[in-house]
Amino acid sequence: MDQTIVVTGGAGFIGSNFIFYLADRYPQDRIVCLDCLTYAGNLSTLRSVMDRPSFRFVKASITDREAVEKLFEEEKPDIVVNFAAESHVDRSIENPSVFLQTNILGTQVLMDACRKYGVRRFHQVSTDEVYGDLPLDRPDLFFTEQTPLHTSSPYSASKASADLLVLAYHRTYGLPVSISRCSNNYGPYQFPEKLIPLMIANALADKPLPVYGKGENVRDWLYVEDHCKAIDLIMRKGKTGEVYNIGGHNEMRNIDIVRLICKKLGKSEDLITYVTDRKGHDQRYAIDPAKIHRELGWLPETRFADGIERTIEWYLEHRDWWEEIVSGEYRNYYEKMYSNR
Ligand code: NAD
Ligand code: TYD
Repeated sequence: MDQTIVVTGGAGFIGSNFIFYLADRYPQDRIVCLDCLTYAGNLSTLRSVMDRPSFRFVKASITDREAVEKLFEEEKPDIVVNFAAESHVDRSIENPSVFLQTNILGTQVLMDACRKYGVRRFHQVSTDEVYGDLPLDRPDLFFTEQTPLHTSSPYSASKASADLLVLAYHRTYGLPVSISRCSNNYGPYQFPEKLIPLMIANALADKPLPVYGKGENVRDWLYVEDHCKAIDLIMRKGKTGEVYNIGGHNEMRNIDIVRLICKKLGKSEDLITYVTDRKGHDQRYAIDPAKIHRELGWLPETRFADGIERTIEWYLEHRDWWEEIVSGEYRNYYEKMYSNR
């Protein structure tokens, strides 16, 4: 084995795609997935790698210091990549506590273990949401790594808090850290509470497509594999103590995404239903990815037209994966969040 890489949150959307990316590209590395399997974690997602001798799955929370230390003692990881998080803004508005526990305190527990066991790189997977939002009428503005943190939701505030803690561990203890702040991802295995898979699943069931406010909010969409490539580059070649923005230069209004999904699935736009806006709803996210391009040569490779086609096809071909999810706990969540909205 060349290196041992601990991937936390690897049973979720981006973490699982990252594990597949590593397993394909670096078969000589050992991959250890640490995930406590919240509603967003799904062990069946990892079926294709589960039987590999170089892969291990451990069910534990990143907030469980004893379990994390036991794992580090056993595995002596070279690199730790932290995807584990509560990740949905709407849930953070309903119940912020678990966001603070997992996203902030869990990150601290991991970094303490990294210090104790001399991990060579701790990479924190963060988000562009830490920068707050940009106005819709200033298309000339973008988030750079120098943009001040200015958060809107309990989710983004918890991610920004963790980022500050990560940089503090670097400055104070010399922990070799890096941080990536990425824009909105889409692709296979995304939990159907997020915009794109939710709209695909609802459209296929001829259910209303709930667009918040006027649907004019803008997000910068990146295909998940491009995000995985960027993280891999940063954790191996990026400078320690540095932040790297990752984005697709692919800004789209929510309503245009929803219309496109209707068109691709041959569904009527009459399904679109405008509902009460999200509290504190960020207007526009837009990343300037110049630094990662200049220093590490990264550029997004998947055009949105291709990525969305592939994503829709994936959801059509993997109905068992998401139909199981939308029939469980998710049904209560959906009722609570969307009825009478
Ligand atoms: P996700 O919600 O799909 O997956 C999160 C995973 O973390 C799940 O498998 C869950 O079981 C696990 N988890 C949650 N709490 C845990 C805990 N206490 N201990 C161990 N495991 C725990 O999230 P995602 O969309 O894959 O996002 C992954 C990371 O990327 C997050 O840190 C998120 O902030 C960040 N991010 C996401 C996006 C996006 O568009 N989805 C964009 C930028 C950054
Ligand atoms: P989401 O996928 O939750 O990601 P984020 O809030 O992290 O950007 O939402 C993307 C955009 O879609 C956001 O502007 C909110 C909007 N949205 C809807 O209009 N309807 C929905 O049902 C959801 C889940 C999101």
